[in-house]
This record gives sequence, structure tokens and C-alpha cells, in this order.
Amino acid sequence: MWPNRRIIDLFKTEFPIVLAPMAGVMDADLVIAATQGGALGSLPCAMISVEKAREQINIIRQRVAAPINLNFFCHQPVDPGAGREAGWKARLAPYYSELGLDPAAPIAAANRAPFDEAFCALIEALKPEIVSFHFGLPDQALLRRVKAAGSLVMSSATIVKEAIWLEENGADVIIAQGAEAGGHRGMFLTDNIAEQPGTFALVPQVVDAVKVPVIAAGGIADGRGIAAAFALGASGVQIGSAYLRCPESKVIPAARVALAQARDDSTVITNVMTGRPARGIANRVMREVGPISPDVPNFPHAATALGPLKAAAEKLGKVDFTNLWAGQAVRMGREMPAAELTRALAGAALARLSQMAG
Ligand SMILES: Cc1cc2nc3c(=O)[nH]c(=O)nc-3n(C[C@H](O)[C@H](O)[C@H](O)COP(=O)(O)O)c2cc1C
Repeated sequence: MWPNRRIIDLFKTEFPIVLAPMAGVMDADLVIAATQGGALGSLPCAMISVEKAREQINIIRQRVAAPINLNFFCHQPVDPGAGREAGWKARLAPYYSELGLDPAAPIAAANRAPFDEAFCALIEALKPEIVSFHFGLPDQALLRRVKAAGSLVMSSATIVKEAIWLEENGADVIIAQGAEAGGHRGMFLTDNIAEQPGTFALVPQVVDAVKVPVIAAGGIADGRGIAAAFALGASGVQIGSAYLRCPESKVIPAARVALAQARDDSTVITNVMTGRPARGIANRVMREVGPISPDVPNFPHAATALGPLKAAAEKLGKVDFTNLWAGQAVRMGREMPAAELTRALAGAALARLSQMAG
């Protein structure tokens, strides 16, 4: 028995496990597989168009009759920053020449658009059971419409102040994202990475500070981690990195090699890939230009000039310029179908919890 049923009762899933949305490395296939295993599947929409999202949701709805979570970024769109884009291009110029690329050729802008009117209309039309946001919440008018569509709203907090703000501003569930987590820090009321608590310190403090259910995220990759999250007061877990090696993810082969070889000390928090801090396996550009650089263009514009380098290096089987987002427990991820992995995670957690109770 799960010691706390708040998330299971609210989401109506078999297990209190959320497959983390992971923009750029997954689509409907991983959502369907994790859902079939009993988790809440999350479709990341930050890097896809409204039309693509509609198509993906239709595919999921055709295959599984279970609740679904749609995930969006909700940052304030900003300019790259005065002179920053040119400076960034100049900093990356040696890599352009090494790969035989023309630095003057036009480049497609990085594609991480915030939640907007068009996505809100999609939610009103398709009524996902759950909608989650990263980097805070959208403005109140849009949020009211999401709630009026009947969707429960979740968002990530990286410090207690953010959790309290999210609850006061309408979040129904809070994801406490510890510093171990892979991908972007969901931080929005602080920009100080050094302040970010780990999952073990963050979860109980968030649980004490808010009334809504709390989902723990960051560094959870097996039954022990899930049991620990419940011991800390969480009502569920959100797991990303542990699912990356599943055959249903869209991780490219060269990145799969990096994931398989990663150890506990392979990841860093970097801002050079997109302009916002995110945790990933350290690659060449993170090491040589970062991991933190004061010169990067604002989010997501740092990714623009990296785009051609990423594409050219990937053609050579290299991940020197690829976002290898992953958390500190990445090494514990297993290469197995996501439905099977979900059931194994839940089974191991329940066994560990009953062992602890006895
Ligand atoms: C490859 C990758 C991509 C991610 N992309 C997103 C995203 O699009 N939206 C989001 O809310 N969180 C994203 N995250 C963060 C996850 O929601 C979650 O906080 C994290 O995976 C938990 O830590 P773990 O990776 O140690 O399990 C991403 C994480 C990873 C590993």
C-alpha cells in the first residue's frame, strides 16, 4: 500500500509516478508506454508546434484511456541581450571553422516558445486532465482558462518561496525539483544556482510550507528513491532521467552511449546550451565554454548559434554540442521498455516501503 494516496486519488493513475516531460528527447511513444505501465505520462510541448501537439495528443488518446499531462514552458520572452548574440557567435567561431561551417549563413531561431493563446485554445479543445508548467505559471487570464477547461495545474518549485508562490497563484500540485534533477532548473523567483537545495532538503520543507500535494523530483531512479520521497512527505514522484534509455525515448544513438557511460559525477549545471541553468552530462562545449558563462544570450537564444554545430557534430556521431540533459542518478537508468520499467519501479518501491514498515 502507498503510505500517501493524495496523488493517486487526484490523478486517478495506478501508481503515484509521473513520467517527467522531457522536451526534445521524447514524444507520444514514451508517454503511451509509461501510461500502460501505470504512470501519469507527460507530453512535453515546449519545442513543438500547436499542430504537432494536437497530433501527438490524438495518438495518445487513441492508444490509452488514461489521464494525460501536457507540459509547457512559461518564461517571459526576452531579447537575446544587447550585443550578446554577436559576442556568442564570435565565441563559437572556432568551432564553426573546425566543422567547416559558414558563420554568416542564416540560422533558424531556437524554438522554445512560452505557453500562449494558441496553446491555451488547444487545452480548451482537448481538455487534458493535467497541465504542468516549468518556470512559474502563465498569466492569470490564461491560467483561469486552463482551470476552466477542467485541467489540474502543476508547476515546479526549486525553493520554498517558489512553492508558496505557486500555491497562492493557483497550482493544484507542486513538483519540488531538487538540484539533482536533469534538465532546466524550474527556478523563477531566484537566479542563484548556488542557493538550490537538493531533493532531500527541499521536499520536507516544501511539504511543511504548502497544503497542496507535493511531488518529489530530482535524482529519483529506483524503488529506494521513491520510498525515500514518501518518507520525506511527498505524495508522488516525477522521474525523468531513469526513462531516457527506454527504447521508446527519442534519444539519438550517440547520446545513448553517453547515458550508458555516465557516472554519479558526470553531470553539471550549465547555462551555455540555452541561456538558462540546466543539468546535463558535461560535453565539450559545456566544459570549454562553461559550464557557466556570463556571456551567453538570454534563454532560449543561446541555443540558436549552437544549432548548426549540434547538427554538424551529430552527423559525425558526436554529442559535443548536444543538450545531454540528465540528473545525478542517470547511471541508475536501465535499458528496458518503459511500461516494464514503471511496474518495476512501483514494485520495488512498495516492497521497500513495506520492509520499512515491518
Ligand atoms: C532530458 C530532460 C528534459 C527535460 N525537459 C523538461 C521539460 O520539457 N519540461 C519540464 O517541465 N521539465 C523538464 N525536465 C525536468 C523534469 O521535469 C524533472 O524535473 C527531472 O527529470 C527530474 O530529475 P531526474 O531527471 O533526476 O529524474 C527535463 C529533464 C530531462 C532529464
